[in-house]
Amino acid sequence: MLEKQLKYIKSKTDFIPEIAIVLGSGLGQLAEEIDTVATIDYKNIPEFPVSTAPSHKGRFVFGTLNGKKVVIMQGRVHLYEGYSSKQVVEPIRLMKMMGAKILFLTNAAGGINEDFKIGDFMVIDDHISSFVPSALIGENDDSLGARFPDMSRVYSKGLNDIIFETAQEMGLEIKKGVYVQFTGPNFETPAEIRMAEIIGADAVGMSTAVEAMAAKHCGMEVCGISVISNMACGKSKTPITSEEVNETADRVAPLFKKLITQSVGKF
Ligand code: HPA
Repeated sequence: MLEKQLKYIKSKTDFIPEIAIVLGSGLGQLAEEIDTVATIDYKNIPEFPVSTAPSHKGRFVFGTLNGKKVVIMQGRVHLYEGYSSKQVVEPIRLMKMMGAKILFLTNAAGGINEDFKIGDFMVIDDHISSFVPSALIGENDDSLGARFPDMSRVYSKGLNDIIFETAQEMGLEIKKGVYVQFTGPNFETPAEIRMAEIIGADAVGMSTAVEAMAAKHCGMEVCGISVISNMACGKSKTPITSEEVNETADRVAPLFKKLITQSVGKF
């Protein structure tokens, strides 16, 4: 199936990206910064998982960002839409097959760590994916990666250092932490967030960890940033809404675009 999808992409563009970027909820604006060569709607790709989330556009954008050849996913699919972990990571594997060696993941996440505030950026240092099915369950494709891949360093230290350095140059204070993925679509209960805190999570969301795992499996260099769009359940007095998540993403979009664009230039 991946071969068929790759063939379709190749029939539309001969562009070979070096870096793949996944844009999370409300963060699609980065695509405007790209010197666009081609765009391909997911719905036109054979048997491709199509996002149903309202703020997700659902297309690949190919082009140059700050001198680097990139493919951007404007919108991703989630487990809560009914897709399996394996389906969710298909686009990641496809971008690797297109030529991308680096994967830059982004998302909106709830802040668990009480040192975080709404609007903060958290560089993902590690993740907990134990609450969602592994993307690697099922027959292993040995041409992609090992049956039992090592996960001791999923997120590249080198790339994370570049993001920190870039933030410092921008005068922007950013955080670092562990991301925990739950399936959603419901936000968590206070007890679930207390548990997540105890096991070492700093931020919570409904994506990213399975994608990072699949990318590591197929030998990509991975990094990721969470935008803290709200404080996690029980960490604030107000109920969480998707409107709040999107409002925060919109508010920090200019700074977020700048951080990603400048960092990618140094990758
Ligand atoms: N929980 C889960 N996913 C999220 C949250 C949250 O608080 N905020 C944004 N995505």
